[in-house]
Amino acid sequence: MSQTYNLAVIPGDGIGQEVVPQAVKVLRAVGETFGHDFEFTELLAGWVAIDAYGVPIRDEDLEVCRRSDAVLFGANGDPSRDVIRSEVRPERALLRIRKELELFANLRPVKVTPDLVPHSPLRPELVEGVDVLVVRELTGGIYFGQPSRRWEEGGERRAVDTMYYTEGEVRRVVRMACELARTRRGLVTSVDKANVLSTSRLWREIATEVSEEYPDVTMEHLLVDATAMYLMQNPQRFDVIVTENMFGDILTDEAAQLTGSYSLIPSASLGAQNNRHGHRLGFYEPIHGSAPDIAGRGVANPTAAILSAAMLLRSSLGLEREAAAIEAAVARALAEGKATPDIAHNGVALTTEQAGDVVAWYVREAKV
Ligand code: IPM
Ligand code: MG
Repeated sequence: MSQTYNLAVIPGDGIGQEVVPQAVKVLRAVGETFGHDFEFTELLAGWVAIDAYGVPIRDEDLEVCRRSDAVLFGANGDPSRDVIRSEVRPERALLRIRKELELFANLRPVKVTPDLVPHSPLRPELVEGVDVLVVRELTGGIYFGQPSRRWEEGGERRAVDTMYYTEGEVRRVVRMACELARTRRGLVTSVDKANVLSTSRLWREIATEVSEEYPDVTMEHLLVDATAMYLMQNPQRFDVIVTENMFGDILTDEAAQLTGSYSLIPSASLGAQNNRHGHRLGFYEPIHGSAPDIAGRGVANPTAAILSAAMLLRSSLGLEREAAAIEAAVARALAEGKATPDIAHNGVALTTEQAGDVVAWYVREAKV
């Protein structure tokens, strides 16, 4: 019997408008090929929502996300419109969704497949076989701690942000990292700045306690600055990295560069809540941004958005075979050099739409 799945779709700003429709196209191909009924509800968030409604995301649209089985997201932001002191910021949409849907763990897989090795800025022998999963804490830390404000005192402008964690917040995300490590090489690197920060000393203490619940998982602790260094010097040593919100933000941008293309990395944000199908309600997005410099030209690489759709099928709908079909279709297209200009070899580059068409086509061929 065919199942109905309700998916909220938020293309957002810039190239989000171009790459998300490709992911939707591929999901439609999955639906037709494997007999599932996907209902898509498109919502506005970011600048497009500020322009249309005056807010980065409307309360009722957040509610639609909460009631859906999963959310597929593109990107938010446009630096050319940024007013640094503005209270209305497009990123608020993303932060509100994460916080209000309690999406406390952000999974960012960085895998350097043989096809990608030549694209990496690092020497081949350093990146061959790299397979790192960064688990970034997403609803705590300095992104949400109070106070966070600016004021004037003694004729000086001042500002404060607060890094704050409870043991419960640390425990649940470290547990998720340990669970994931069990399905991989069994190594968790917990990253902190315990030589300086109280929140990091708490983090290390709780991570150590959690690791005792997982005797089959090896846990090591590294300082964030050393981790940044090892990601360049010896990235093959990592399996699962778990870290607090801002360290994770920075390290995932760095780690993504190992693949040579930012446009290939999907992400999943998972939380405490389940959807109607008994799987985790999740939020899926490429890790790249809105790329206003290339937006509207039909050259954006839809791969990360399409791979985010695969993660969605696996983690929020439990459709493993279908997720694998998308990943195989993407791998085949990349191996054949059927790609957008950023990574095309063989001389011919595809447009964003054509790259989406190829993957959709290969998905249809996956099941004959
Ligand atoms: C990310 C982005 C966001 C973050 C911004 C857009 C708020 O950089 O998802 O990594 O800092 O979390
Ligand atoms: Mg970031």
